[in-house]
Amino acid sequence: MSLRSQEQLVVGVGVMFLLTVCITAFFFLPSGGADLYLHEENHVHVRDTFNREEVRRKEQRELLRKAEEANPMPIPKPEIGAADDAEGRRIFVKQMIKFAWDGYRKYAWGENELRPNSRTGHSSSIFGYGKTGATIIDAIDTLFIVGLKEEYKEARDWIEKFDFKESAKGDLSVFESNIRFTGGLLSAYALTGDKMFLNKAEEVATVFLPAFDTPNGIPYSLLDLQSKRGKTYSWSNGKAILSEYGSMQLELDYLSNLTGNPIFAQKCDKIRDVLTSMNKPEGLYPIYITLEETPRWGQHLFSMGAMADSFYEYLLKQWISTGKTDERTKREYEEAIFAMEKRMLFKSEPSNLWYFGKMNGNRVEHTFEHLACFSGGMVVLHAMNEKNKTIADHYLKLGKEIGHTCHESYARSTTGIGPESFQFTSSIEAKTERRQDSYYILRPEVVETWFYLWRATKDEKYRQWAWDHVQNLEKYCKGAAGYSGIRDVYSSEPEQDDVQQSFLFAELFKYLYLIFSDDDVIPLDQWVFNTEAHPFRIRH
Ligand SMILES: *[C@@H]1O[C@H](CO)[C@@H](O)[C@H](O)[C@H]1NC(C)=O
Ligand SMILES: *[C@@H]1O[C@H](CO)[C@@H](O)[C@H](O)[C@H]1NC(C)=O
Repeated sequence: MSLRSQEQLVVGVGVMFLLTVCITAFFFLPSGGADLYLHEENHVHVRDTFNREEVRRKEQRELLRKAEEANPMPIPKPEIGAADDAEGRRIFVKQMIKFAWDGYRKYAWGENELRPNSRTGHSSSIFGYGKTGATIIDAIDTLFIVGLKEEYKEARDWIEKFDFKESAKGDLSVFESNIRFTGGLLSAYALTGDKMFLNKAEEVATVFLPAFDTPNGIPYSLLDLQSKRGKTYSWSNGKAILSEYGSMQLELDYLSNLTGNPIFAQKCDKIRDVLTSMNKPEGLYPIYITLEETPRWGQHLFSMGAMADSFYEYLLKQWISTGKTDERTKREYEEAIFAMEKRMLFKSEPSNLWYFGKMNGNRVEHTFEHLACFSGGMVVLHAMNEKNKTIADHYLKLGKEIGHTCHESYARSTTGIGPESFQFTSSIEAKTERRQDSYYILRPEVVETWFYLWRATKDEKYRQWAWDHVQNLEKYCKGAAGYSGIRDVYSSEPEQDDVQQSFLFAELFKYLYLIFSDDDVIPLDQWVFNTEAHPFRIRH
């Protein structure tokens, strides 16, 4: 038999087989009778999902084709230089930034984020449903700092034409918009002196002023840009969240100082007054508060991680950013951390890893989150600014221990990348057995803490840990046109989630670049980072 007819036979048999399967299915499936009927609803649902998935794929292919046509420029692959000293490693990080940026620029320009493998735009619910270029605004200060000049200029020109009021749609997160948009623009102004950025920052912050119209002045979590009305999350029972309403001051105070418009500072002074007046159970701050004229705490949940984290960070940084003149904030910061050390700081057995647990009333959950790893950097920053040597030594030690714990959460995984959240039990330390906690979405907090530790100690191990992370990002997170999160840090071949978060540029890349730079690139006695790693100038 010739090759050709052999092929025909194979195809023929294949077609016959498929036909048989179809016909059999056609005759036999409906005779499932009552049973099938029971499942019909499910069935329809499955088919519907399948169809939608098909449509989505088709749309994506179409978008990709259009993107290729509109912008035929190939994405240059970064050259791998001799990355065996700090300079080489810094250049390597810069090339990663360029690669991730080029992908965004080519396939998702003006969208909030990039799907690096599908090569289309991506947006998450925090941005509402408008096209607001979150990646451009979050990345621009990093582009400037690392000296990607053409990229910076292109981003700047886009921002100049960008009208947040017109582009933003739906329900936006007040907190996320403040730290990413207002914060990113303020930082670009602080670094470059270009007034355009300051005007844009004021425009964005002005859009969010109606969110502060509540009986006690604590802002809503979300603002509906259509009706200009605030709302809380459907799951928060009408309450606001500590990490959100408690971390607005750095941006808004700075904005008022730079523009001379006092309205923004007044809004956050009001929040601070409410917090000062509240009675703290054992010195701790619960994560929920009501918006009533006389506010009340919600359930007594306490955490160093999600829903609380940046509130503590902002107390410390507000004191630093005002040239250490705001003594009230310093005192409140110290009292809060002291109370948490007393009640929530634990050491694991047998590895002696230090971590902050979570508390629900008096019940402790021995979980530490990737997000909570920022606390190492925070206490080190306190140590660097503290005159009392006993206190400074104490917090440097605490920072080193937390930096070590978070490194263990990385070192004990298959990919060398730490999970979203990890536990300490009788059988595991700094690992998780919960599938839903084992993902990594390009979060920066661990590298952030190593960055502060590097600046404070000059111990080479922190640079080495950061470099290990760079290599693991290359190995597991690099996608076709950028970097992606991974779904399981304990898998040797983790699936990518196909999202290049805007904070990859604002935070992770920036801290990685800075850890391989000299201390005079963003010196910590002149700059303070907001919680999205946008540097603001310290006012002396
Ligand atoms: C901004 O802060 C500086 C330093 O604290 C202060 O001297 C200046 O008066 C402030 N400007 C405004 C408009 O608040
Ligand atoms: C430094 O702080 C410690 C602990 O709070 C305190 O006991 C000590 O008196 C302080 N030292 C100075 C010089 O203020």
